[in-house]
Amino acid sequence: MATKQQKKQPVLPDVSHGMDLLNRPGLNKGTAFTEEERSKYSLYGLLPPHVETLDEQVGRAYEAYKRKDDDLERHIYLRALQDTNEVLFYRLLLDHIEEMTPMVYTPVVAQACQQFSHIYRRPRGLFISYPLRDSIPALLRNRPNPQVDVIVVTDGGRILGIGDQGAGGLGIPIGKLSLYTLIGGIRPERTLPIILDVGTNNAERLKDPEYLGWRHERITGQAYFDFVDQFVQAVKQELPQTCLQWEDFATPHARPILKRYRDELLTFNDDIQGTAAVALGAVLGAVKVTGKSLKDQQIVMLGAGSAGIGVADGLRAAMVGEGLSEQEARSHFWVVDIDGLLHSGRKDLTPEQSVYAQSEERVSGWPRTAHGHIGLADVIGKIEATILIGLSTVGGAFTEAIVREMARKVQRPIIFPLSNPTIKSEAKADDLIPWTDGRALVATGSPFAPVSYGGKKIPIAQCNNVFIFPAMGLAVVASGASRVTDAMLLAAARALAENSPALKDSSASMLPALTDVRRVAAEIAVAVGLAAQKDGVAPKTTENELRQRVVATQWTPAYP
Ligand code: NAI
Repeated sequence: MATKQQKKQPVLPDVSHGMDLLNRPGLNKGTAFTEEERSKYSLYGLLPPHVETLDEQVGRAYEAYKRKDDDLERHIYLRALQDTNEVLFYRLLLDHIEEMTPMVYTPVVAQACQQFSHIYRRPRGLFISYPLRDSIPALLRNRPNPQVDVIVVTDGGRILGIGDQGAGGLGIPIGKLSLYTLIGGIRPERTLPIILDVGTNNAERLKDPEYLGWRHERITGQAYFDFVDQFVQAVKQELPQTCLQWEDFATPHARPILKRYRDELLTFNDDIQGTAAVALGAVLGAVKVTGKSLKDQQIVMLGAGSAGIGVADGLRAAMVGEGLSEQEARSHFWVVDIDGLLHSGRKDLTPEQSVYAQSEERVSGWPRTAHGHIGLADVIGKIEATILIGLSTVGGAFTEAIVREMARKVQRPIIFPLSNPTIKSEAKADDLIPWTDGRALVATGSPFAPVSYGGKKIPIAQCNNVFIFPAMGLAVVASGASRVTDAMLLAAARALAENSPALKDSSASMLPALTDVRRVAAEIAVAVGLAAQKDGVAPKTTENELRQRVVATQWTPAYP
C-alpha cells in the first residue's frame, strides 16, 4: 500500500489508474511499475508479479524484435511498442540506434507509408482532411496533448522517392518526430505529427478498398493554398510558439509555402533547408580537412534543381560569411544542368539559377556540343575544380575520365555524389576511391559500405538530414526562438562541420556516427541558439546559460 511519503509526492501524475494507465504510452511502464505504483494506481492483478527494470524490458523487447524476419515487420513491431510504452521504445532505439534508425525512418518508413492503410493499428497524430477545412481550429484543439514543441506536417504529395502516398504520408511525420525525440530530445508528448489530407492522385491508393484517406483526387491551385493557409492561421492561433516543420511537399508547393510563411511563424522546410544544411556541413568539414578555406574553392555542381540550387545558396552564403563579396562568391560556382553550364548567354534560367550564370566572356572559346552546350567534362577540363557535387539524378555522371582529370589537378578532391537512390548516384564510392588513389573526400546521398583501399577501410559519410533537423528542433525549443533564419541554418552547418570525425583523422568519416549524434545535436543546438540571439529572434542569454538550457531540454528516456 502507498506510504505517507508517496502520498505527498506522487510517483506519476495522478491522472489515471488501472487499464487506463496501462493504455497510455506516455505514462505506461508495463512490467516496470514498482510495488508502490502498482498499489497506488490499482495495477495489482493486471500485471505479472515480477517487477522488471527498464534494462530487462529492453532486453526482452530486443529479443522480440530480433524474431521479426523482415524490415516492415520490424517497423510494425517498433511502432506498436511506441504506442504501448514510449520510454521503453526510445530506450530500445537509443541502445540500438544504428540498427533501428533505418527501421523507424528512411528507408523502411517508405514502405510503411505505402502500406499505411494495411498496417494501421492505433491513432497517432492528427488527420486534417479537406472536407473538414472549416473546423481546423477545433481539430487542432482536439490534439492528444496540450503542449506541443514541434509539429511535422506533410500533405503526402512527394514522399521520399515514392511519390504521392495520400494519407499514408502520415508515416513520415511519425517517423521523423521519433527522431526529434531520440536525437534532439524533444519530449515525446510534445510532438505532433499531422497529415493535411488533400486527396491523392495515386491510382493504386484510390482503388485500394482499404485506403484510409479521403478518397478523392488531390485538391490543387488556389483551393489548395487556401486550405494550407487555413491550417497555418489555425496553428498560429492555437500553438503560436510551436515549430512547424514542412515535410515532403511537392516542389511546386514546398517553395511557395516556405517563402510565404517563413517570416510569419517559427517554421522551416527540412527537404529544402535541412538538406542544404547537411550537405553544406559535410562540404565545410571536407574543406577543413584539406586545410584550405571555402573561399579558395572552385565548386562544380551537376544539377540545378531545387536541391542543387539550395546547396549552392548555402555555400555562397558561407563564402560571403568568409569575407567575399556577393559577386566574388558567385564566380566560384560552375553549375551544370541538363542543358550544360549555366552562363549569361542562356535564356532558359530561372531567377534562382541566374545567380550562378558564369559570364559568357569567361567561357568564350570553350568546347561546346552540337547544341552549343558546355558539358561537365569540359568544365572539369578547363578549370581547377576542388569540389564536385552531384544533385542531378543522373547515375554514373561522374565518369572515370572526369574524376581522374579532377584528381590530376588537386591533392584532395572533394566529391559528393548526392543523388538518391543508389542507382541515381553520380558515382559509386567504391569507384571514386581507387580512381583518385584514395585521395578523394567522399560523401554520398545514398548509403555505401566502407571502401577497402591501401590496406585501410575508408568509411563513406551519408548526407542524411538526421544530422540537422533534430538539432534544429532542440535549438528552437531551448533558445525560445520565434523564427528560423538563414543564419541559424548556416550556424547548424558550421557546427556539424566542426564535429566531423575526419578533422581528427583524415581517413575517418566526414559526418558523425549515429552513436554520437545526440551529443552533436546538443552542440549544433547551442550554435543555432546563439545565431538566433544574434539575429534578434531569441531572448539573449550567455552561451553558458544557453548550453544549460539545451542540456535540460534534451529528454532522455528513463522512467520517472
Ligand atoms: P530536380 O529534378 O529539381 O533537379 C534535377 C537537376 O538535374 C535539374 O537541374 C536537371 O536539369 C539536372 N539534370 C538532369 N539530367 C541531367 C543531365 N543528364 N546532365 C546534367 N544535369 C541534369 O531534382 P532535385 O529535387 O533537385 O533532386 C536532385 C537529386 O538530389 C535527386 O536524386 C534527389 O534524390 C537528390 N537529393 C539528395 C539529397 C541528399 O541529401 N542527399 C537531398 C535532396 C535531394
